[in-house]
Amino acid sequence: MKDLDPTYIQAPEHRRDSNFIPNQPEEIRVIDLSRLDDPEDVQNVIAEIGDACEKWGFFQVINHGVPLDARQRVEKTVKTFFDLPREEKIKVKRDEVNQVGYHDGEHTTNVKDWKEVFDMYFKNPVVIPSSTDPEDEGIRLVYNKWPQFPSDLREACEEYARHAEKLAFKLLELISLSLGLPKERFRDYFKEQMSFFRINRYPPCPRPDLALGVGHHKDPDVLGLLAQDEVGGLQVRRRSDGVWFPIRPVPNALVINLGNCMELWTNDKYWSAEHRVVVNTTRERYSIPFFLLPSHDVEVKPLEELVSPKNPPRYKGYKWGKFYASRNRSNFQNQDIENIQTDDFKVVKE
Ligand code: OGA
Ligand code: NI
Repeated sequence: MKDLDPTYIQAPEHRRDSNFIPNQPEEIRVIDLSRLDDPEDVQNVIAEIGDACEKWGFFQVINHGVPLDARQRVEKTVKTFFDLPREEKIKVKRDEVNQVGYHDGEHTTNVKDWKEVFDMYFKNPVVIPSSTDPEDEGIRLVYNKWPQFPSDLREACEEYARHAEKLAFKLLELISLSLGLPKERFRDYFKEQMSFFRINRYPPCPRPDLALGVGHHKDPDVLGLLAQDEVGGLQVRRRSDGVWFPIRPVPNALVINLGNCMELWTNDKYWSAEHRVVVNTTRERYSIPFFLLPSHDVEVKPLEELVSPKNPPRYKGYKWGKFYASRNRSNFQNQDIENIQTDDFKVVKE
């Protein structure tokens, strides 16, 4: 394919070279979590995490406790799945009602992404709102979809996701401590967690100058833990000046990023950064994110402990499940309007 289907074409200001300065000396921090075993170093680690959350909303971790063989098993089985003919893959296709399984038509900010994905919720079934209507308190259950082949995909994913969830809560504790809060401060928000686990495959693309693997976006979640392979392509926008930086692949590291919930809870002290994925003409790329999401009925709004008369709440709250449902609907198809963003809930628009 030489020509690119026009649904994939990004507006000029969003393409890979816009506002991107290659070979910048500054890098996203890589934090070695084995340092937590040294009581004298724990406070330093917490301070480094806090600093990264404030300046970038992104950092990487190594020696994080998610076993390499669990990750490699997912990588191997999922590759077998993605290599199947499309007719096979769409037998477990995501639909507008049950947003799990295989999908190859995702839109981010109304442009199609150059990727295919496989999604599953961490809880099976998961409890989610039955509609986007704020008045409707109905809920429903969603069950994951698994292909018949490869038959070990489910087990590999479930095992990896259990490790990822454990690390996500560990990081959440460290982030709470970095904010001067008790380490369990956020724990109650996850009783019916809607966390989900995704595998992204970005095939080689004939026009990486025009299309993106994922267009610029902020994640709506609490925290993301992303395993990326050695190909590279993830870029993040620096908070201070909006310049895009690459997230360098580090062997066996996980890329951690804060989502909108954390930004709201901390009243903008911590940052949920815009990021995007650049593709290339020759190499496919895999990434495996685990998104930590609260229970559907959690009210996401600035924490009382973190606001004051001097630092009044910058957002009205929203019910997590409703926000997520509205957002997901707009990811599914081009709606000719920008999809719902947390900025829509800002008390003062900037
Ligand atoms: C995402 C995302 C980045 C990547 O799935 O939300 O930003 O490197 N992925 O795949
Ligand atoms: Ni993302």
